[in-house]
Amino acid sequence: MPRRKFVAGNWKMNTTIKSAVELARCLVAKIGQADMDLAVCPPFPYLLAVRDALAGSRIALGAQDVFYENDGAFTGEISAAMLKDAGCTHVICGHSERRHVIGETDEIVNRKLLKALGEGLVPIFCVGELLAERQAARTLEVVSRQVRLGLEGVSAADAARVVLAYEPVWAIGTGVVATPQQAQEVHALIRKLLEELYGPELARRLQIQYGGSVKASNARELLHCPDIDGALVGGASLKAEEFEGIVRAGL
Ligand code: PGA
Repeated sequence: MPRRKFVAGNWKMNTTIKSAVELARCLVAKIGQADMDLAVCPPFPYLLAVRDALAGSRIALGAQDVFYENDGAFTGEISAAMLKDAGCTHVICGHSERRHVIGETDEIVNRKLLKALGEGLVPIFCVGELLAERQAARTLEVVSRQVRLGLEGVSAADAARVVLAYEPVWAIGTGVVATPQQAQEVHALIRKLLEELYGPELARRLQIQYGGSVKASNARELLHCPDIDGALVGGASLKAEEFEGIVRAGL
């Protein structure tokens, strides 16, 4: 069975309640029944409104982050159970902005991933190297470490529900997209690593998205690389036509 493509929109800290609902409605009209795995990840306060706008479509609801404890005195944090309760099926774990702006470590990302899986959510698990790491030829080392530590303690049964996203940090929000060759090389490495960790069958089945300055105009060649199974889209996911173009490029 060929892997299904999966395109997800990460709206980050953008939109208003009004524009978020409008964007969701527009996406439902344009690609709501597309034969592909689809998700959008709005800001927390807009999850319920966007959930309602997506109702009846094939577009899943995801959150941008989750906390690793169940409940209690963790001011400002959001639990996996809360996300489930709000209608989320997916959650981004370990996005580079959380790693590098907020300071999340591999250990924290791992705890979040385990909690998301425990609650039945699909984690979109992000990895990727900084520009300096690529320039120092450390890409494979960094990405391998992130994948291994992020998946520590994740059983094969749970790993089967993980979606990976390779997002080179130097390509995120910069307009500098990785070449299909650069992306494919790292995707193939990640798949090889998954094979070591979980065996060839599971490694063949897992979806690995590419993220970093994906737009409608560059999506086709990326999405047709052998080990690239979709995209995690930031900036371009805020424009319905762009997001639609990316989805159509993958069909
Ligand atoms: P970008 O962001 O598409 O704006 O580069 C991608 C991401 O951060 O997921």
